[in-house]
This record gives sequence, C-alpha cells and structure tokens, in this order.
Amino acid sequence: MTIDPTRRRLLQGAAASGITLLPLAGHAEAASTRFEIGREAFLLDGKPLQIRCGEMHFARVPREYWAQRLKTIKAMGLNAVCAYLFWNYHEWREGKYDWAGQRDAVEFCRLAQQEGLWVILRPGPYACAEWDMGGLPWWLLKQPGDAFLRTRSEAYLNPARRWLREVGRVLGSQQVTHGGPILMVQVENEYGFYGDDLDYLRALRQTLLDAGFDVPLFQCNPTNAVARTHIPELLSVANFGSDPAAGFKALASVQQAPMMCGEYYSGWFDTWGAPHRRGSADGAAADIGKMLKAGGSFSLYMAHGGTTFGLWGGCDRPFRPDTTSYDYDAPIGEAGWIGEKFAAYRAAITPFLAPGETLPEPPPRMPVMTIAPFALSESVPVADCMPARVIRDLAPRPIEQYDISRGLVAYRATLPAGPAAVLEWAKVRDLAWVRVDGKLVGTMDTRHRRFKVAIPARSQPATVDILLYTIARVNFGVEVHDRKGLHGPAVLRMPDGAAQPIENWEIRAIDFDADGVLPPLAFRRGRSKDAAFWRGSFEAGRSADTFLDMSSWGQGIVWINGRCLGRYWSIGPTQTMYLPGPWIKRGRNEVVVLDLTGPREARIAGLAEPILDQLHRERDLPVPPGSVHLHLDGAAPAHEGEFAPGAMTQDVHFAAPLHGRQFCLESLDAFDGKQFAAVAEIALLDRGGKPLDESSWTIAYASSEEASTVDGSALNAINGQVTDYWLTARTAGATHPHRLVIDLGKNAEVAGMRYTPRQGPDGVTGRIRHYRVYVGDRLASEA
Ligand code: GLA
Repeated sequence: MTIDPTRRRLLQGAAASGITLLPLAGHAEAASTRFEIGREAFLLDGKPLQIRCGEMHFARVPREYWAQRLKTIKAMGLNAVCAYLFWNYHEWREGKYDWAGQRDAVEFCRLAQQEGLWVILRPGPYACAEWDMGGLPWWLLKQPGDAFLRTRSEAYLNPARRWLREVGRVLGSQQVTHGGPILMVQVENEYGFYGDDLDYLRALRQTLLDAGFDVPLFQCNPTNAVARTHIPELLSVANFGSDPAAGFKALASVQQAPMMCGEYYSGWFDTWGAPHRRGSADGAAADIGKMLKAGGSFSLYMAHGGTTFGLWGGCDRPFRPDTTSYDYDAPIGEAGWIGEKFAAYRAAITPFLAPGETLPEPPPRMPVMTIAPFALSESVPVADCMPARVIRDLAPRPIEQYDISRGLVAYRATLPAGPAAVLEWAKVRDLAWVRVDGKLVGTMDTRHRRFKVAIPARSQPATVDILLYTIARVNFGVEVHDRKGLHGPAVLRMPDGAAQPIENWEIRAIDFDADGVLPPLAFRRGRSKDAAFWRGSFEAGRSADTFLDMSSWGQGIVWINGRCLGRYWSIGPTQTMYLPGPWIKRGRNEVVVLDLTGPREARIAGLAEPILDQLHRERDLPVPPGSVHLHLDGAAPAHEGEFAPGAMTQDVHFAAPLHGRQFCLESLDAFDGKQFAAVAEIALLDRGGKPLDESSWTIAYASSEEASTVDGSALNAINGQVTDYWLTARTAGATHPHRLVIDLGKNAEVAGMRYTPRQGPDGVTGRIRHYRVYVGDRLASEA
C-alpha cells in the first residue's frame, strides 16, 4: 500500500500524540472519494450531488444520543450534517487539548458515516453559534487590545494556527479523500460581517492546507456580506432565513459555482428576558423547495439545536445572554422530538431525492418520565465557599489577568467614613451584588451598563463586599473581546463631584473552569439567605428524559450527579432544564443548585414536557427607579430623507458630520402605509464610510417595542444581526412618528448611517419610508 504525503503526516502526528485514529488503513484502501466543486454542481466521483445538510453540534447533544439524532436527521431527508468545532471546548487551558467523551469529534464523524451522512466541518477558529466567546478561548484575552481577535495579529493568529493544525491531526483522517465522511471544511465564520482583511482569510486557508485538509474549503457570509470577502481560492456560500433567490443572486455575482445556502434559519435562538422565538414551518418548507428546484444545496441552521449544557452558552451583543435551551424551534426539538415542522421539511425534500433514494422512518422518541417534587433542604452561602487563596491588587483588573476563566469572584475593600456617595467602576462584567458591612446596597448590571451603586453615609470605615457572577462572553462582533470581572479603577464619587479612589482590594474566586467544577461545599440543613449553593436528591427507578422545572428559583446553575447541566434564570423564556435520561442513575441522584438571589421555594420537579416560552420579567433584578424622557420637542432635525424601498442595506451620508453622544432615528411613515416602524440594523458611519465601534452602545429610548407576538426589542437594531429587528408595538396608540435613540457611550462624530430594513418578502410591515435624524448630547435621559 502506498501512503500519500498527507496521510503520512496524519499518521506521524497520531503516533506522536498516542491518539488512536480510526482504522485508516481500511478506509484508505476501500473508499477514497473525490469531491469537487463543478461549475454548476458539486461532483462526487464525477457525479452531481445536491447537498441537503442540517446543522447539529455534538457538544449540544448527549453523546449517548448522537446516533439517535443522526438517524432522525437522515429520516428528515438530509444527506449531510454540518458541525462546528468550538475551539475553547477543546482547548480551555492553553495547550491542553481534550477530545474525549462528549468532545469526541472523530466518533461523531464515524457515527454520521454509519448513518449514511456526509459531514461538513466548521472548525473556526471563530464560530459564533451562541457559544461562549463564539468558540474562541478566554485565555486569548490575557493579551492586551480591543481589536486583535480575528485578525493577523500574532497574539491571535499563532494560537489559532496551532488549533487548526491540531484539528488536522485529529480529523484529517475523516475526510472523504481518506475514506471518511468530511466533504468540505469552512474557513472562519461570516468573516465578511466582521472584517475585510483578505490576507487573514488566506492565512487561515493556508494553515488548513498545511494541516492536511485536501477537500474543498469554503467561506459563508450573510447575503449582504458575500461580496465583501469573496476570494477565488474559497467557495462562497450565503446564509439567510428567507429569500433564497437574493442569496443565490449574490453568489452568482461573485463566482461560477454551485449555489449553496450555508445556514438556512429554521428558527432562532432565545436570550434571557426576551420572548421565545419561532420560525414558520410553511415559509421554510417553501424555501427548501425553491432551493432544491433551483439545483441548489443548503444546510439548515439548526436541524437539531439541542441544549447548551454546562457553562458554554454565549451572549448576543451588546449584552443579551443566550438561554441554555438551544431548541431553536428547529424541526428536531431540544429533546430530539419531531412534529409538524419535521413532517413539513420531509415532505418538501421528498420530491427531490436522488433516483432510487428512499427515506428511512424516524427512530422512536426517547422515553420520558416525571419526577415528583423534591426539596433541596441543605444549603451553604457562597461567601463561605470561597477558597483561601487571596489575590491582592491596588485596583481590580479583568479576571483573565489573574488566570481566572469564569465563575464567582468576591472583591473586598475598605471604604472610609464619609457622607453618602456613589461607588463607580470603569466596567462591570457581568452581574454584581454590592454589600456594605454585610447589608445589600445595590446591584450592578452590564445589561444596562450600570457600573455604579449608591453607598450610604458611614460614621466609621466600612467593608464593601462585591460578589460578581460571569454569565457568558459575547459571541458576536468586536464585543468578543469580552473581559470579565470588575474593571478598576474604583472611585467613590462624593456629593460635590470629587472622586476618591478606593484601593487595595482582596479578590477570591471560584473558577468553574471548563466543565463547571464545584468547590468543596460544607452543606448544612436549612435555608441560606442571599447567594448560596443548595443540595437535594431524588430517587429514580429508571433512566428516562425529564425537564427540571426551575421556575421557583432565581438565577444560577444546576449540577446533577456532579455534572454541570447549565444555567437557569426564571425571568425565562425557558423555565425548564432538559435532563437527558443517560445522565440519571437508578437510585439516588444528587442535585446541586447555585442560586444568586434565593429561591421562592427550594423545590424541583421533573416535568414530562419543556417550558420554553414563559417570560417573567418581573422576576428580574431591580432596575433603579427613573423613567426615560425624550427631549426632541422643538429640536431641529440634523437630516431628513426617504429610504429606498426593498430589503437592501442602504448608506446615507449627511451633508456635514454631526457631533454628539446620542443618535435618534425618527420614522415619519412606512412603505406599506401602516402605523409600524421596524429596523433590522442601524450602524453609524465615519467620514470614510466605515461603521463606528458599537461596543459601548445602549438603547437610550424606544417609543415602543412589540413584546408579545414577536421579539421586537430595540436592542435588535444594534445587535449586528439582520435577521431580527426592532418593531414598534401592536397597540392602537403606537403610531408614527416612532423614535429610537442610541446612546453611543461617548461623544462621537457621525458622518452617515447604514440602515438595514426588516428582512423578508416585499411588503413586510415596518419598512420606514420618510425619516429624520437627530444627533445631540441629551436627546433622551433618565428623569
Ligand atoms: C450566524 C452564525 C451562526 C449563528 C447564527 C445565529 O449566522 O454564523 O453561528 O450564530 O448566526 O444563530
């Protein structure tokens, strides 16, 4: 047998690491396949192949269920599965790679092949995917800089290359050219949405080639961004959730190649505190039919979303953490269940099966059980569980500087005696509870950029204790440079405006590390106040799936038999946590809960069905009183205009640059003549037409937001995602003019704006026609 050079490299790499690769010899002898990109079609050993792919992240599905889910994917009519690799999942500590158990990507490929599915691999280095930091490892943030990730900066590119070489070492043998199922490999992820350095893409491409990848490489981008970073060395595919014709047209304008949708959105992800998202089955089924009829290929995002177990959940920008459930309203639900959507997709695909191809029946549902309510009758305050190791620093720095990856961080310092004042921080990521001499005085909350708290008068020096909880690193935009913890300096702002530095902090941390490692916990019977760990157990006669009802708890994390199940937050919309049967033992099962605010009732039951759509915003942390007022009356607009009809993004350049801290867009009417206004995305432009940095933006005011029928939150207009949108409320009084005020976090020069209308078919409601723009320092402010 002759060994080709790539394979020799793989074998040498494998031997060096002691890892057992799959029976390469058999594969190489039996089934090396040629997969090529033709001018009109993908070609498998010279014959056209239409790729009907669906996304499933093996990290989000219990390993014990991988095969069952892949069978279900196959039964829906798909012939391929698309999988991201999340770099930080495999290299949480620098240089220590983990591919075992739930992280066994080779086993996932083997199972996919066994089920007759091709694999499309997306190894990053950046993924996005509502995964912590978009899959980038947190330790990169030990390096300085707010714009070095996803660039050719050595601080990023060197470790990124090491990672891709590791991927080649482990998964190179899984390519079709070596007898495995991997057809194609993606370079980066929607890079055109982020940057335009083509040499960065070329550097990653070259690394993949050097790592032994010899199948076609491609890049994906949203329809709007396809042209921006297209290079002939990579096939371009387009990502969208509607209007396949527009996506395919964008592709045809840059290349002569088969058409493919890289991510067709079957639903959407949920964030804590926002309504549950759904995607229409009929619209998707029609689009699937259109793509197949046009000879196109696609990958459904998600075919099966699953659950973001552990602490791997990501966060939308500016700061909206994603729920643990990644159900995604996908055709195959969180627990692998199928229903009407699955049937509609299967029916849409069936007419396009290859000659002689038939679809298997879907496998049966996994068994489900309920668990009678059980009490967690032991607890211990978080404050008693902090390790003895103390870090001392003049002013706290981001936790990455102390080699803390994520978790709970306790800060302590002494406040001098003095009058009531305000303790202010440069930044707080993510949530913090502030106590003075043991008494809670307030919370700080990065969602509202609330980095300060009122401190009462002190007749003598007092101890300030701050407990900080990291939720998730942002996974999208430049905000991925998301360093956690309290960022000093801390100052005490006196009533006369003077600032007194507060220095000499003691810092202690529970680092949950990659997999939610618990510290030693000395439980006692009874209820603890404030943030605490809780313990209880239930007896199980069998192992079957169940959904833990967390609705009587506040916010925190759940562990079952020592395994970290994930985060919960009873503001919803998710109220349950999917607990897969294989993780339940017969007999006694121990449940530990971290609750930061304290439960209303320290009990949990296992339900037979998930609750994914119950919002309870009233259970959220209190936002200090004060309502927002608009100060536009009598103000002269800085610019007036009329947008073009349709869904395309449009740039507007103002006659002269404007200056101020706040920007207001005012709608005067809409193209459909109705009362609503919608905005998919607003970016502001500098003189050169480049978007301004949005990392410190917040919404200062929105005249109304639709909250019941869809998630029309104003934040959707500045989260960088064009699929969602701000939509004004469906109430009678909410009519034009509608106003959206963005606070830029600092004074800025604004020379223009980039407006992306609500996406979707012609006539979709809310597309603004006539508008006005205001820029000023105080267009909206708290009373
Ligand atoms: C983009 C990304 C995906 C995912 C979706 C939203 O398209 O490429 O990783 O984040 O958005 O779910």
